[in-house]
Amino acid sequence: MDIVATLGTQKTTIHFASVEVVEALLPRHAVLVTDENVAAAWPAFAGTRKTIVVSPGEGSKRIPTYERVLESLAEAGADRSTPVVAWGGGVVGDLAGFAAGTYMRGVPLIQVPTSLLAMVDSSVGGKVGVDLAAGKNLAGAFVAPQDVYVATGFLATLPERELRAGMAEVIKYGFIMDAPLLDTLGGDLEPLVARCIALKVQVVDEDPYETLGRRAILNFGHTVAHAIEHATGYGPVLHGEAVAIGMVAEARLARDLGLAPADLVDEVERTLVRHALPTRIPEGVTPEQLLEAMRRDKKAKAGRLGFSLVSEPGKCTLVPNVPEEAVLRALSNS
Ligand SMILES: NC(=O)c1ccc[n+]([C@@H]2O[C@H](COP(=O)([O-])OP(=O)(O)OC[C@H]3O[C@@H](n4cnc5c(N)ncnc54)[C@H](O)[C@@H]3O)[C@@H](O)[C@H]2O)c1
Ligand SMILES: [Zn+2]
Repeated sequence: MDIVATLGTQKTTIHFASVEVVEALLPRHAVLVTDENVAAAWPAFAGTRKTIVVSPGEGSKRIPTYERVLESLAEAGADRSTPVVAWGGGVVGDLAGFAAGTYMRGVPLIQVPTSLLAMVDSSVGGKVGVDLAAGKNLAGAFVAPQDVYVATGFLATLPERELRAGMAEVIKYGFIMDAPLLDTLGGDLEPLVARCIALKVQVVDEDPYETLGRRAILNFGHTVAHAIEHATGYGPVLHGEAVAIGMVAEARLARDLGLAPADLVDEVERTLVRHALPTRIPEGVTPEQLLEAMRRDKKAKAGRLGFSLVSEPGKCTLVPNVPEEAVLRALSNS
């Protein structure tokens, strides 16, 4: 049940297998890049190959750690044919992917995602990079992995809260493009993950370098989410949790703009509550603060307040010019 994706002219094969089979399939001479949590949870896996270990958390997605990974690759004797394996969550995927894409002008990249978010989102699609003081993901590139090995067995050690946050992204896929998926949320994780990856591949294939706008449909909930993460200082609210809150606010926005029926808001909210995800803007964060963060973000995106809005479960549209008053109203939690 492999999935083959293309990013522009580059081909990525996505394989589904057990942890043991993934370990056996990785090239012997590959170098693993991971974080302390993943290395500690899977010591036998880490022991199989040269392994570069970084500190866990978004703080590692910065230039100093990127430089350390490059230097470690050089010390490990990596050459142009040495595959780099990004074995971890989205932080490791983005960091190691950027290192693989730039070390010696590019060595083969293999993604082995270990968080639910990395499986359904960051390991597929070719975006890699690090954060700058000026903002998240501001230094990066498109680097398509040669292979992505998805072993949902890794999720056994993922903290509950991280698993729930990843579910927010799964739920997002259902609302933007696959309503039937919403009926299978309680089931087995592997087919659910495979379905989400197939959906992401479909969107990325249509707009690999995000030049046509199609890829922006993946941003449902994210315009508000990024503002929440910015306003709360990246950390207290996990990305997936911010996306959950953002999807409810953006469902309200779709309703207020007459794009969606009123019961869409309830449906989004109910689905998230069932998965123990937050739906309210955190205490102490004001709509004005969030709007300010969005204005800042929009400056980076050529000046319009645009949203990917769901009109009914499984369908969404890009709305490029949303009036600020409507956004403020949708952000006031009712
Ligand atoms: N490139 C893309 O297209 C893309 C898409 C979405 C998100 N991202 C990026 O992904 C990052 C977030 O990814 P994330 O949510 O996976 O965060 P993360 O990489 O920080 O992982 C979350 C936490 O779970 C731990 N962890 C991961 N797998 C584990 C396992 N199997 N067992 C035990 N602990 C485990 C990590 O150590 C970390 O503490 C952000 O930097 C975001 O910008 C990138
Ligand atoms: Zn996201």
